[in-house]
Amino acid sequence: MKIKEIKLKDLKPAAFIADQVAEIKAAVGNGRAVNALSGGVDSSVVTLLGHRALGSRLKTYFIENGLMREGEARQVVALFRKMGVPVQVKDARQQFFRALKGITDPEEKREAITQTFYKTVFGPLVKKSGARFLLQGTNYTDVEETVAGIKRQHNILAQLGIDTEKCYGYIVLEPVIQLRKTGIRKLAQALGFPQSVSDRPPFPGPALSARVIGECTPERVELVRKATRIVEAELAGTKAFQYLAILHQDKVTGMRKGKREFGFQIEVRCWDSTDAITGTPTALPFRTLTRIADRITSEVPGVVSVTYNIAQKPPSTIEAV
Ligand code: XMP
Repeated sequence: MKIKEIKLKDLKPAAFIADQVAEIKAAVGNGRAVNALSGGVDSSVVTLLGHRALGSRLKTYFIENGLMREGEARQVVALFRKMGVPVQVKDARQQFFRALKGITDPEEKREAITQTFYKTVFGPLVKKSGARFLLQGTNYTDVEETVAGIKRQHNILAQLGIDTEKCYGYIVLEPVIQLRKTGIRKLAQALGFPQSVSDRPPFPGPALSARVIGECTPERVELVRKATRIVEAELAGTKAFQYLAILHQDKVTGMRKGKREFGFQIEVRCWDSTDAITGTPTALPFRTLTRIADRITSEVPGVVSVTYNIAQKPPSTIEAV
């Protein structure tokens, strides 16, 4: 791997920010750039670096892919408006669900997300805006896992030999690619983001599709979205690295009001980790787990089983897909 990691102990946030702003300015020159903001700490930091470097010559989009969490677009747009950065929401739900239709294989699902994001959605957006550059918040762990062949992170392109200019019509700039999440959080603090951004638990680029085992239809995503809302609300006070809900493909026999119900299974995961490379399931109090199970089985239609993952990463991974 050619990229050199900058370890947390070696990171000087103010100097790093100044260097990256200068590099973005030098790369883009008098031109224009676009970027996708999901609201996560990586893309938030990159948005502000790009904004500092290019001002209104950077156009920031929130891609509504139909796979995001409840209210996410609204919250992200409002936060950045407060920080003086306009964000345009691009509704791309149809394109993503069309691309995901019928796909059950995890890597094919990730490939469909990548192609839809870079080609179908961003290709025309970049062309229309007259930009030549796309800024994105790829981090060091994303590269490492993809190059190792563990999971194809949706945002890894050049490191897999993809010439983005040839394939999609624009050059990709990745200002935080040498840093891991902890370093990016430090930058977020230095850039003046509220704690809700700098401490925000990670959320994968393929969003809730990484948490739907089997076909990713709007209805199945909605189930996992409802379960996610419950898990996030119940576990927000923990110091865990990340917590999530997964919809399984197999149904199981349950019962409700004295009747048989062949229903869905939701798996809850909650991880202790510092860098997402390894992870240990958080030793949550049993009463917390049973409260989550009670809420999911009563508030998410058709769910009759809730399990908690107790396997470490490795051999598990943090997301399911
Ligand atoms: P895994 O599931 O590989 O996840 O153990 C490690 C960390 O990366 C996040 N993740 C992703 N982030 N694009 C991203 O930007 C992706 O395709 C992707 N897949 C997983 C995951 O949430 C965890 O924090």
